[in-house]
Amino acid sequence: MPSQRRGVSPVTYRDRVEATGLGVRCEGVVHLYRTFGGHDVVALRGVDLVIAPGERVAFLGPSGSGKSTLLTLLGGIQKPSAGRIFLGDAEISRMGERQLSRIRSRQVSTMLQGATRNLLPYATARQNIAFARLSLTAEEKREALVDRELLRRVGLEEQVDQVVSTMSGGQRQRLALACAVATAPRLLLADEPTSQLGHEDRDHVLHLIHSLGDDFGTTIVVVTHQPEVAETFPRSVKMLGGRVGAEGREGSEYAVVGEDGVLHLPGHVAADWPAGTLVRFEDDGDGRLVLTRATHERVTQEGAQP
Ligand SMILES: Nc1ncnc2c1ncn2[C@@H]1O[C@H](COP(=O)(O)OP(=O)(O)OP(=O)(O)O)[C@@H](O)[C@H]1O
Ligand SMILES: [Mg+2]
Repeated sequence: MPSQRRGVSPVTYRDRVEATGLGVRCEGVVHLYRTFGGHDVVALRGVDLVIAPGERVAFLGPSGSGKSTLLTLLGGIQKPSAGRIFLGDAEISRMGERQLSRIRSRQVSTMLQGATRNLLPYATARQNIAFARLSLTAEEKREALVDRELLRRVGLEEQVDQVVSTMSGGQRQRLALACAVATAPRLLLADEPTSQLGHEDRDHVLHLIHSLGDDFGTTIVVVTHQPEVAETFPRSVKMLGGRVGAEGREGSEYAVVGEDGVLHLPGHVAADWPAGTLVRFEDDGDGRLVLTRATHERVTQEGAQP
């Protein structure tokens, strides 16, 4: 008998009306860490970023550029030192802990960097998934993909009753992702979900991540250092020195103008034009700016002119 659910992937809660992607907006987000030594580390220096509901974005950038920090702020795990963060219409940067924890358990899943941080080490794979689903209603749980199927999708069908502490790094990483998607969140944030995986497992994990977007319109943000992972996302955001420095959209690269007109040079130019290099902007009158590096001699000559 044809049913309304026909053709529906069994992954989860397709009937949930609210199961659509959650948009993200950051306005001037700054984050400082206070170290034991008493000095501050500025991890984010003014991030302005809008991610549309259902958009899929890869965060790239060198180590220490603030990718993980930004992800934990979007997931409501930390609060920014300054600036505002909205998930949909709700401002999470001003929310109380109770409201935040409700959002974290029902709407936003964050897979932190380092798979083990996301798992209960002395529990089995199945118990970890059950824990991730604790806050779901009975109906949502009934509609959820059964544990065994979810684990099969990440290639862990043999490990259903295996304790996490006996699993390999790659197995833990796949289980952490299975837990993150187990609640069919409206926003999935995954920090380097494939860094320890071989090609085949990586492709399975990416397939699972993208199927969440295909099935529910989930908004997806993945941090990665792997170009072949980033290539599967239509948009990439490159963090540079605690800011959004550049973006890639549909194969084109763009620099992003930051606060006070700050602009990052593309990597290959920056390598040849060290900090302190003098540059001249000339408007060609046709919507283009021509950027010219002043050579040392020329500056000296110009400086010598009366
Ligand atoms: N708990 C912390 N205490 C102090 N400083 C921190 C802390 N966490 C991060 N930082 C600092 O904040 C900056 C940004 O770190 P973050 O982990 O966000 O970078 P990342 O882009 O994720 O790097 P990676 O690619 O290595 O994971 C770095 O200078 C880092 O040393
Ligand atoms: Mg990181």
